[in-house]
Amino acid sequence: MKIGIVKEIYPGECRVAGTPKSVAKLIKQGFTVTVQSGAGLSASITDAAYEKAGAAIEPSAEAVWAGADIITKVRLCQAEEVALTHEEQIIISLVAPAQNQERVKELAARKVTLISLDCIPRITRAQSMDVLSSMANIAGYRAVVEAANLYGSFFTGQTTAAGSVPPAKVLIIGAGVAGLAALGAARSLGAIVRAFDTRAEVREQVESLGGEFLEVDFEEAGEGAGGYAKVMSKEFIEAEMALFLEQAKEVDIVITTALIPGKKAPILWTEDHLRAMKPGSVVVDMAAEMGGNCAHTEHGKVVDFGGVHIVGYSDLPSRMAQVSSQLFGTNITHLSKELGQAADFKLDHDNDITRAALVLEKGEMLWPPPAPPPAPAPVAKAPVVEKAKAPLAAEKKVELSAPPAKGMRSTVFSLLALAFVGAWMALRFGSADMQLGPDLAIFLQHLTVFVLACFVGWQVVWSVTAALHTPLMSVTNAISGIIIVGGILQAMGDTTSAPVLVGAAATLFATINIFGGFFVTKRMLQMFQR
Ligand code: NAI
Repeated sequence: MKIGIVKEIYPGECRVAGTPKSVAKLIKQGFTVTVQSGAGLSASITDAAYEKAGAAIEPSAEAVWAGADIITKVRLCQAEEVALTHEEQIIISLVAPAQNQERVKELAARKVTLISLDCIPRITRAQSMDVLSSMANIAGYRAVVEAANLYGSFFTGQTTAAGSVPPAKVLIIGAGVAGLAALGAARSLGAIVRAFDTRAEVREQVESLGGEFLEVDFEEAGEGAGGYAKVMSKEFIEAEMALFLEQAKEVDIVITTALIPGKKAPILWTEDHLRAMKPGSVVVDMAAEMGGNCAHTEHGKVVDFGGVHIVGYSDLPSRMAQVSSQLFGTNITHLSKELGQAADFKLDHDNDITRAALVLEKGEMLWPPPAPPPAPAPVAKAPVVEKAKAPLAAEKKVELSAPPAKGMRSTVFSLLALAFVGAWMALRFGSADMQLGPDLAIFLQHLTVFVLACFVGWQVVWSVTAALHTPLMSVTNAISGIIIVGGILQAMGDTTSAPVLVGAAATLFATINIFGGFFVTKRMLQMFQR
């Protein structure tokens, strides 16, 4: 099967749907790859680099379109490209079918198959193909770079002989993929960063990146279907606006990313908020393409509103075309693998990823896909009591997390078990007239050690969060070492006796545990190596 990569003709688009690295991967998957001459130049990729990776270079877009079974593109086909398609050709690109219904109909008339990268579901298995997340991550970073470009001061605080400069205060509205990337970038430049999101579950992620999570004085769950945000009540939005008005007086930079899939972006930063900001402040409205979160945002432009710069760029990933193309191309190689590579290429309707992304198949409209089966009901959580007031930086709270109910139960259970064993031993051996023989005394000693070891082990394991069980186990080799010594001591003597066999088995399993632990630790460390 032949894959064609063409130059993007959408005005200002600098990305390309494949790089030499991704081309090499596609060739490894059994495809042949053709690239239009100059397709990668705006992302600083030369024809020679593609050729070196194994692609053939065609001089014109027409030649690539005519010869390819599959065309990979960044943007949906433009009008002049529709005419270049041929029957049963497969086109993989961003589509946004809800917003581009006319163009999709034109493509349906050409009897092509259209795979929409933006319709790939945000499920764990599809993460490696999730172009929207890859691009949002880059866009979040770039939003901070654009803000820094317009902001007239440092991000990090400085104390110099000429005076001290306070750190910039950044507010992120919407802590999804883009918001968290912006948070990370602003923090790494040294700014004080606060973030707000309607989904309380992102608090942990915000805090783990060094941000402060803001809250409103209003109780309403923000999670909608599929883990995405839902449209909030009027009362909640009012409480949110009041919180933002307080923040507007303090912050220097606002990055808005609030979005509910398939809906127009909500206006969350109004004229009142803009007026409350200091001159020289910057608002980067990442939702500009979907109408914007900020009043006075103009799509694709920087607007000055009373000294506040409002950035409405919707091409942030394209402004970092080299890395965007690299991630875009890699996402496509993962998708082609999911589709069976060249040898078993198949548009399987039973595959939830393929089905969700299929907009047209040989001209037949398949969008929207059937609704996915309902997710299993979430485990009921103890109700969370909302905090009274949105904290300002000065009032930063120290939170004591309540011990989980499960941990409490396990402690009570262990104590009861220990009390039961103790009571049994007291009753069994505790009578005054009973003389303990040496064997019984040793047995009792061992039993006590065993019960205490069970209790301590139980407490140690269940007091550590489940996510850390693997690293915990991988570093418990010291315990295994003790077991090996004990096992070897027991394993001496008659090879058919029970203690020798049990000792040998203990030595074997503890050895496996030690080497398994080293292996797991090595693999985990590799994950963090650059
Ligand atoms: P996402 O869905 O992961 O994140 C959006 C977040 O906004 C969610 O966490 C959601 O809970 C939150 N949200 C929704 N309503 C809210 C409200 N009323 N108040 C506070 N938070 C609210 O989306 P992702 O991928 O992070 O993209 C974010 C935005 O960035 C989108 O608008 C997207 O179109 C835009 N984007 C812009 C680019 C550009 O070049 N300007 C490039 C890529 C993405």
